[in-house]
Amino acid sequence: MDKLKVVIVSDNIDIKIKIKNLINDESIAISGFLEYDNMTNLKILGYSPDVVILIHDSNAGQLFEIAGQVYAQIQGASVIMLSANIDVSLLAKAMQYGIKQVLPLDSDAKTVKEALYKAYSLEKKRTSDNAFIKSTRSKVISFFGGKGGTGKTTVAVNIAVQLALNGKKTVIIDADFQFGDVTVLLDLDPKDTIYELTKEKGDLSIDVVRSTLALHSSGLEVLAAPKSPELSEYISDKTMEIVLNTLRPYYEYIIIDLPPGFNDTTIAAIESSDVVYLVASVDIVSLRNAKLCLGIMEALRQKDKVELILNRCTESIISKKDFESILSLTTKLCLPDDTKTVLTSLNKGVPFVAGMPKTQISKLISGYVKTL
Ligand SMILES: Nc1ncnc2c1ncn2[C@@H]1O[C@H](COP(=O)(O)OP(=O)(O)O)[C@@H](O)[C@H]1O
Ligand SMILES: [Mg+2]
Repeated sequence: MDKLKVVIVSDNIDIKIKIKNLINDESIAISGFLEYDNMTNLKILGYSPDVVILIHDSNAGQLFEIAGQVYAQIQGASVIMLSANIDVSLLAKAMQYGIKQVLPLDSDAKTVKEALYKAYSLEKKRTSDNAFIKSTRSKVISFFGGKGGTGKTTVAVNIAVQLALNGKKTVIIDADFQFGDVTVLLDLDPKDTIYELTKEKGDLSIDVVRSTLALHSSGLEVLAAPKSPELSEYISDKTMEIVLNTLRPYYEYIIIDLPPGFNDTTIAAIESSDVVYLVASVDIVSLRNAKLCLGIMEALRQKDKVELILNRCTESIISKKDFESILSLTTKLCLPDDTKTVLTSLNKGVPFVAGMPKTQISKLISGYVKTL
């Protein structure tokens, strides 16, 4: 069975972390953490969760409204509530708003997990009678690597452009806030970047985020990195989270091009991703880096999202096989070393999947994108 996708809503970060740690296991994926505000419902929709856990704490004024909206509008998602003060009137209200179960806030892991599965199966039963269409679930895909120059940006941009050319609603976020070069590869010069979004107070609306996106001829939309490296310090993990939450309901694919290494924003992006591609070039330094990265991913409990892309595969001392056995990963995509195609595309500002679709490297990418 697929993992049960769970979203936790509370204004109290400590409680969210406590519940996350309580229920964290191989069968449950915590897709998102949200707070109570008037966008919560929309954000939940973007995650397309199986179960929403609403924490009933002192600030949770909008809890019942949100529960009712989830029940009425998000097919396939059910709600359970955790509360420190359960009484008859609270239970009655919960029933009225379609909440499947109410549990004490200090319930043990087994109780909460059983409630999650029970709520899930009840909702499945409710919706299987109506031939239901699940809301478009957006897929967040990050491209990551321990060191620079392995081809993260090249691969991320070409995959994103191919998705857009296939008619998928796709946005790419250049998360290399200091030295991002996504717009260079796409030959775009947008006026606004993610930095402009940090000046907005409070929640971002999709219209504000959209107004900062640049449109590429393939249909791909682009959230550019700041124009100058020192502006990167204004962009926090919170910015990343808000931007992703805002975009999610509106895009089928959100591609994130990450800088080398780990920091708060890369970790936020990784935690929000459905898939993290580790892009490595086939050489010994890259192999060592990839191994170190995997260790950190494991410590962050994110390793099961990681998939391997090997770039610039040539006959060399170490092979694809060595990578796979040392990293215990299978290669999803193995791209050739093709300086002519990659450089021509870079000089023209036209991604090779669009400008040179007949080359081997383009065909490998377009073939792979069909499986995403
Ligand atoms: N498959 C490839 N064949 C030849 N050159 C490549 C290939 N992939 C990337 N490059 C080149 O390697 C350099 C680094 O690529 P880039 O995508 O910027 O890496 P990163 O984003 O990981 O720093 C660039 O000059 C790029 O043109
Ligand atoms: Mg890069």
